[in-house]
Amino acid sequence: MALPKPHGGKLIQSYNPNYDLTGIEKEILIDAIALSDLELIGVGLFSPLTGFLAKADYESVVEKMRLADGTIWSIPVTLPVQAEKAKELAAGEKFKLVHEGEVYGVITVSEWYEPDLSKEAREVYKTEEQAHPGVKRLFERGPVYAAGEVTLIKKPGKGVAEDVWFEPKETRALFEEKGWKTVVGFQTRNPVHRAHEYIQKAALETVDGLFLNPLVGETKSDDIPADVRLRSYRVLLENYYPKERTQLAVYPAAMRYAGPREAIFHAIARKNFGCTHFIVGRDHAGVGNYYGTYDAQHIFSHFTEEELGIKPLFFEHSFYCNKCEGMASDKTCPHSKEDRVILSGTKVREMLRNGELPPSTFSRKEVVEVLIEGMREKETV
Ligand code: ADX
Repeated sequence: MALPKPHGGKLIQSYNPNYDLTGIEKEILIDAIALSDLELIGVGLFSPLTGFLAKADYESVVEKMRLADGTIWSIPVTLPVQAEKAKELAAGEKFKLVHEGEVYGVITVSEWYEPDLSKEAREVYKTEEQAHPGVKRLFERGPVYAAGEVTLIKKPGKGVAEDVWFEPKETRALFEEKGWKTVVGFQTRNPVHRAHEYIQKAALETVDGLFLNPLVGETKSDDIPADVRLRSYRVLLENYYPKERTQLAVYPAAMRYAGPREAIFHAIARKNFGCTHFIVGRDHAGVGNYYGTYDAQHIFSHFTEEELGIKPLFFEHSFYCNKCEGMASDKTCPHSKEDRVILSGTKVREMLRNGELPPSTFSRKEVVEVLIEGMREKETV
């Protein structure tokens, strides 16, 4: 098996730090999500996108999970602007993309349009409820979308993720160097608990390498902050994973909480990183009770593996079972709920806040220590 070709066939590379800004006076202010999207388009993680979606692509993605040319694409990557700004957006004109006073890129505007946000919410997030964090953000971000190709001219600082921030061209080279022919990608926005470890290692039994790829872009405020999580991944890998078969790297995209649609999006980004396989467990990228436990697995049946170009590996709800005396899943464990160690994220956060340790059958002690320390630091800030 060879590493997969980038989605759409070509790795997009549109970073140019020497871009000449002379004569480009107008600017569009972008938020942290648009900045991350800009960077990820620029380095090719969102290949084949070369910019923010035009209207025909946007409508096709919302309705059919495909770009207008038919390429699979499940989440709209758009540049919201205020209605006032739209008046300035003449087609063909270039705008600086500015975040907190710094110019990070340039867009050549092709058009602007007013999206049907309710429809986007219904189709992409399966709800219009503003209690859904992705939907809330969708409605907050602006009533007009600017479209057009972008050039990334400055990469944002990487902070504590500096040594684990790789572009797709770099991860592809890394995998080649390690001689990995098959690589499984793992998305997470949480600390790695025993259930995550179990499904990662079960997958690793059948492939050459594990690409632990935690999302570190925008998340909702009660998710554990990325810097604390990064520390927890490092300590876990150090103590419990084979170094020669594991690679940690951040996935710097914003979390959309779009469940099934986001699982497809996550798989495509990992394909661009060079992964051949991608893990999808229970309620992948879900939030609250908006999606069925395995909806994010079922959605893959819309596409053939050949067309998607990365093989999803599905796992059922996993846990430690006291009767099995080991990790197991709904598929492999015959015992009852009472025998299983299952804790919700909310429950775990509550325990950590109270300085209570979740059992080692739920989370490794080294991980728990880092999380408690992280919570203390947050409280003292
Ligand atoms: S996610 O939003 O990034 O999907 P999380 O970090 O909880 O959330 O999950 C990471 C991956 O592990 C997802 O593929 C998810 O489906 C899977 N997963 C999380 N917990 C379990 C579990 N107990 N059993 C099986 N799969 C799980």
